[in-house]
Amino acid sequence: MAKDFIVTPWEVKGEVDYDKLVEQFGTSIISDDLINKIKKHTGKLHYMLRRKIFFSHRDLDILMKEYEQGKKFALYTGRGPSGHTHMGHLIPWIFTKWLQDAFDIPLYFQMTDDEKFLCKPKLTQEETKKFSYENALDLIALGFNPKKTFIIIDTEYSKTLYNIAIQVAKKVTASNAKAVFGFTNETNIGMYFWPAVQAAPCFLPSILSGEKIRTLIPAAIDQDPYWRIARDVAPKLGYPKTAAIHCTFLPALTGPKGKMSTSEGMQSTIFTTDDEKTVRNKIMKYAFSGGKDTLKEHRKHGGNPDIDISYRWLRFLEDNDKKLKKIYDDYKSGKLLSGELKQILVDKLNNFLKKHREKKEKAKKQLDKFILKD
Ligand code: TRP
Repeated sequence: MAKDFIVTPWEVKGEVDYDKLVEQFGTSIISDDLINKIKKHTGKLHYMLRRKIFFSHRDLDILMKEYEQGKKFALYTGRGPSGHTHMGHLIPWIFTKWLQDAFDIPLYFQMTDDEKFLCKPKLTQEETKKFSYENALDLIALGFNPKKTFIIIDTEYSKTLYNIAIQVAKKVTASNAKAVFGFTNETNIGMYFWPAVQAAPCFLPSILSGEKIRTLIPAAIDQDPYWRIARDVAPKLGYPKTAAIHCTFLPALTGPKGKMSTSEGMQSTIFTTDDEKTVRNKIMKYAFSGGKDTLKEHRKHGGNPDIDISYRWLRFLEDNDKKLKKIYDDYKSGKLLSGELKQILVDKLNNFLKKHREKKEKAKKQLDKFILKD
């Protein structure tokens, strides 16, 4: 049965068919060959690559070939600071940290306080700035290298960023922006310009070093439309086309069948600011279950882990393949009950968040070292 879904940088709705999306977006599936090539350099593969949570790319093959010839590359990713950080945001950052360590390369991280001010009618500049600093603590808490990680807060790095953005903007027409992002005549003019600002950090490593350095962007696949623009203009400005590696989305707790408009709702995800009790309540109450209606039926026929959100979240969070497989098998056979599966996720999240909160507290003192200034 064909299911409807929408993926744009501003909204993700329905159960996403990732094969179809790759076709629609014109990206490439990460081949086993390419995975093996990465493995040759990194040793053990990150579980998000093994499990194809990162599944699609643009020019990663070219980037790896250049790397083998001794060319450097840099990482670029970012965050729209419209609120507190949630688990979905952390997924690509966790993987980015692995890439930084595995290849020992710099990361440029963009906090788009300007974008969120422009696109969210209710948010003030003060609020998006405040969230930029708060969200930056979540990033730093993941253990990024302070010597090699550069956080760009757009409105505070504007001198450098603006000069790159206008170079990009000169090469992008309004009809191009309309076609890629679906802008209309009612869209504010800030938004028409804004994709040039998200493209700017793609070229920043080249500009700062005076060498041609390709960037690799690890991010959820909804950001890909921006990279189409950035890649179009790159050769016109004399920079290497940015490469990208895309991940799937951490599903909403309420499941794909959950009311679509609540996809951003408080009950559909876990924020890094949620305390232990809140985490437990949300998972127990809202995490969509693939279990059977009665205990007897569940024991007899088993549950369906593939649609069970607690299992699907553990696929994103539990790096131990054996442990994960046991959970899968036990749930499918009926040995593991829905409440027990949920409890495994609650414990996983609360263990992680406890340490995360402590590291976030320590990050406050480090913040200054990370923020890029001009
Ligand atoms: N537009 C992104 C958001 O709303 C933020 C962002 C800026 C970003 N640059 C990026 C995300 C690079 C991923 C990669 O979340």
